[in-house]
Amino acid sequence: MSTAVAFFDTKPYDRDYIARAPGAEKLALRFHDFRLTTETAPTARGATAVCVFVNDKLDEPCLAALHAAGVRHVALRCAGFNNVDLKAARALGLAVTRVPAYSPHAVAEHTVALLLTLNRRIHRAFNRVREHNFSLQGLVGFDLHGRTAGVIGTGKIGRLVAQILRGFGMRVIAHDPYPAVEWSTTHGIDYRPLEAVLAESDVLTLHLPLTRESHHLLNERTLALVKPGATIVNTSRGKLIDTTALIAALKARRLGGVALDVYEEEEGIFFEDLSGELLADDELSRLLSFPNVLVTAHQAFFTEEALAEIARVTAENLVRGARGESFLDGTTL
Ligand code: NAI
Repeated sequence: MSTAVAFFDTKPYDRDYIARAPGAEKLALRFHDFRLTTETAPTARGATAVCVFVNDKLDEPCLAALHAAGVRHVALRCAGFNNVDLKAARALGLAVTRVPAYSPHAVAEHTVALLLTLNRRIHRAFNRVREHNFSLQGLVGFDLHGRTAGVIGTGKIGRLVAQILRGFGMRVIAHDPYPAVEWSTTHGIDYRPLEAVLAESDVLTLHLPLTRESHHLLNERTLALVKPGATIVNTSRGKLIDTTALIAALKARRLGGVALDVYEEEEGIFFEDLSGELLADDELSRLLSFPNVLVTAHQAFFTEEALAEIARVTAENLVRGARGESFLDGTTL
């Protein structure tokens, strides 16, 4: 068997980890650096599977074009699947798989890294000291100990973040339509309605998936409910926050700080080296101009362990798909 698989939006590190994954030698790997769209879908011709990432756009026309090109399996090498029209995929008979949990620790730890960096102004101190500016003016942070953290979404990642923050001695409250009661009791975490979490939290962190219901969860109305001076961290999906409303709240000095690993319009910007180029996105430019905003370019997942696990599960499912076998448990959408 040597089944062709077309990989879209790949970087050298993707190719490296996938090529080294067990079973990858049984597949004919075709790596593309461009993203999958309706326009690029015909390049998959000859492949029976495609492998895609968070910013590939698998809407109905794109899926139809893949199907017409002979593709029968779409393997997402990520957990989130908001970029795939699953209904259309089902109607076309396309199998869709993902990697539901590769390293929730990677994302949880990055979330806390962002929070600590922003709160203790490490990003500013790093630059200052390199310029031999040893002044502390403007670098004052606050003790996390004793403050309240609000975790929205207590799945795999949200729970780990909550536990780490409990370790700092924070009071942790949470909101989730499906509360994990036993876990919350064990860790001393209280579930509260969303409005209460927004109003009481000094630190708000988002760990829910992007769905039609959660789109712009933080908007003009809900941001007005957030405790004045609170810090917001989003390592989940950019579209959970209405960026225009977020900028307005920052300009009105109602927020202490914002740390983002994801951005509403990150597609085509994040993962690319655009240094030396004009940034055409005015809202991202504005966000980057605030001293109390910290942005990383969707790197929360980016650890050795996570990349190896993503590659392992993806390659195994691609091999199983090529053999007509059932996919790994819990990976089929
Ligand atoms: P999960 O599926 O284990 O947990 C999600 C939780 O959110 C569930 O408990 C669910 O009940 C809850 N939820 C759903 N709708 C909600 C709502 N309206 N309000 C509050 N809670 C709600 O997912 P996991 O693995 O913890 O991942 C969370 C998100 O993190 C993913 O959906 C993905 O978008 C994002 N992510 C980001 C990465 C990055 O590199 N920045 C990497 C991996 C995931």
